[in-house]
Order: sequence, then structure tokens, then C-alpha cells
Amino acid sequence: MTQPRPVTPGMAPAHPDPYPFYARLVAERPFGHDADSGLWVAAGAAAVSEVLADPACRVRPPAEPVPRGILGTPAGEVFGSLVRMTDGAAQARRKRILGTALGAVTEERVVALAVEHTGRATDWADLQFEVPVRVMASLLGLDGEVSAEAGRLIGDFVRCVPASATAEDQAAAAVAAARLLDLLGPHLHAGGGGLIGELVRLTADAGEAETAPLLANVIGLLSQTYDATAALVGNTLLALAQHGRPEEPVGERDTPAAPPGTALTDFVAEVVRHDAPIQNTRRFVAEATTVAGQPVPAGSAILLLLAAANRDPLANPDPHTFRPGRADPRVFTFSRGAHRCPGHAIATAIAVGVAATATGTPSHEGHLPSPNARIPVLKGQFR
Ligand code: HEM
Repeated sequence: MTQPRPVTPGMAPAHPDPYPFYARLVAERPFGHDADSGLWVAAGAAAVSEVLADPACRVRPPAEPVPRGILGTPAGEVFGSLVRMTDGAAQARRKRILGTALGAVTEERVVALAVEHTGRATDWADLQFEVPVRVMASLLGLDGEVSAEAGRLIGDFVRCVPASATAEDQAAAAVAAARLLDLLGPHLHAGGGGLIGELVRLTADAGEAETAPLLANVIGLLSQTYDATAALVGNTLLALAQHGRPEEPVGERDTPAAPPGTALTDFVAEVVRHDAPIQNTRRFVAEATTVAGQPVPAGSAILLLLAAANRDPLANPDPHTFRPGRADPRVFTFSRGAHRCPGHAIATAIAVGVAATATGTPSHEGHLPSPNARIPVLKGQFR
């Protein structure tokens, strides 16, 4: 008999079922030090919230703002300007601009683009990875050829992001970043429409002279979309296969039915909580601090188990039950505080558009190895 694979905090996202392990941590050690990995681990909703709100906890180690292996390369240039990878006043300014531009994109437009691109997908992997990136590229205002090439390159660029990136990953990311900068740079000056045009206008209005950080963050929008949305699309299709398609609510005479699509939107929102596509993130302690009453020294690294916090009974009643349409759920999948994901509505709308259109029922063959994303490998007849 084969032994079940052991779960460790860092390996949990690709484990067949990490949830009993998370539940044990939430119950027995919602915040504590993990001697094996050397990391502090926050699993409970209160501890995760506390760390995400603590200004002493940063997104990068202060002594290494850019990973050494990509420093001085085009990948390092992009990485060092990403709102995702920086803290402080410049991050807050750039984040506001991104939030304003992304906030003006309507759900209807994203769903329509996702439906259109789903119709052209050739297999399950294409549906998971390429469709979301093509939707994002369309929103940015990039045309077919540029969008297709950017989609191919972004898969290599994201290899430098995880803490586990190897020298080979970093070299591939550097080559991809150089080409992405050349490919997308001219679009900043083209005066075009789409999100790129909007971001250029908003950046100029804010009195920001430099365009390099803006270009880096345009690449950031594509890279943040890539594996996170692939995971959400995959987890949504598997949940539909397991639980069946949700039925649209029928209104009573005095309470009109919810708008079409509400049931699927609620369904995707519950997938986001119940089987989080991004399962964890990290923070690095710049100054000694206290979390859950425990002193945490400067120089510590904290792993925040967002997927465990979603299933903390103190955050969500009956947390292990998949129940779309929960009233006021507390969801950590898109993070909180200064680094909260500004693409959450777009990601959800992409998954809704794909789920509404994709036909065929995939089978499930494990998960791609990833330290933070839970990306199921889908197989079987496509269409
Ligand atoms: C299911 C899909 C997605 C998930 C689960 C997800 C999750 C996250 C999480 C957890 C963070 C913050 C990490 C931290 O606090 O350490 C984040 C940040 C970010 N996400 Fe998403 N994301 C998704 C899709 C997207 C999409 C489609 C976009 C683009 C429209 C996007 C853009 C960003 C950006 C720009 C940041 C950096 C924000 C900051 O650090 O201030 N994300 N995302």
C-alpha cells in the first residue's frame, strides 16, 4: 500500500488534500514557528489578518529587495518596480493608479472576452493558462499577435517569482523579461486605448515622470493573471463536475430574480474561498514585532496560509462545506491590506465566462508543482 504523501506548509498547495492538515494547524497552532522550514506559519484567520496589517511585515526581505539571481537583469528591473514586490509610498501611488484603471473595467466586458477566447481554446491547458492571459491582453489593448507572444513569454517570466526559483528559472525569466520590455514598451507611447492608454493617462495626471515602473506593472498584470487564474479556472471546472451546475435563482412575485449569471458568480466566489487558487503568501519581518502575542524577531520570514484562514471556523461557519451564496464570507485568497489583489473582480469574471462556455467534463490528474498556487492538471475529452 502506498503511504499518503506527508504535508508540509510549503508543499501543501500541490498536495491531493491539504485541508485536514490546515484544519489541524488552525485548531492547534494558528500561529507558530515551524522548526523544519525555519518559517513562522500563520494559519488562523486572526493571525493572518494581524500579519497583513502589520507595517513591520514586508513583501521582500529588506536586505534583498530583488532576488540576487536576477539582480542586474531585465527580470530584476521588472521585479524591482512591481507593486506586488515593493512597499512604501511609491507602491501606494502606483497601486492607486492600477486600482483606478482596473476598477473601471466592467464585469460584462470581461465575461464577454472570456466567452470569446474560450471558444478558440484548443485543450484544457490552453483554457486554463492562455485564455486568462489573452483576456487580460485584450483589456490592456494589445492585438492578436502581440497578445499571443506576450502570453507565451509570461509563462517564463513568472518562473522567477516563487521563493523556490532555481538558477535555470531565473535565467529563463531574464530572457523573457527582455523580450517583454521590447514588445510592450512601444505601446506606452502609442497613445492607444485599452487599459495601457488609461494607465499612461492616469500616471501623467499623477505627475509621475518615469515610464519604466509603469511598463513593469503592465507586465505585472499579465504575470499576476497567469497561474493564479489558471488555478481558479481549473478548480471551478472540477467543482462544477463534482457539485453540478448551479441553477439560477427564480424570483418570487415581490422579490425579483437575481440578474442572470448570479448563481455562477456565487459558485466561483465559493471556489475562491473553499479551494483557494493561491494558497499562501509570505512576509519578511523588517523590525521586531509581535504576532498573536508572540515576539517575532527582525529577519524572520512568515508563511501566511490564506487557504487555511478561509476555512477557520472563527472566520466562516461550517467552513469545510462548499456552499455558494454564503452571507458575508471572510475570504483571504486575494490577500488584505496594502497588497490586496486589485484584479479579484477580473479574475472571478474570467472564471465565470470560461465556466459558462466550456463544454466537456475534465478528469483530474494531480496538481502542478507550485509553492503557492493550487493548479489542477485537467485531462480527458475537450469539447
Ligand atoms: C484567481 C486569481 C487571482 C488570485 C487568487 C490572486 C491573488 C492575489 C494575492 C494573494 C495577492 C497579494 C499577495 C500578497 O499580499 O502577498 C495579489 C496581488 C496582486 N494581484 Fe492578484 N490574484 C489573482 C488574479 C489577478 C489578476 C487577474 C490580476 C490582474 C488584473 C491581478 C493583479 C494583482 C496585482 C497587480 C497584485 C499586486 C498588488 C499589491 O501587491 O499591491 N491578480 N493577487
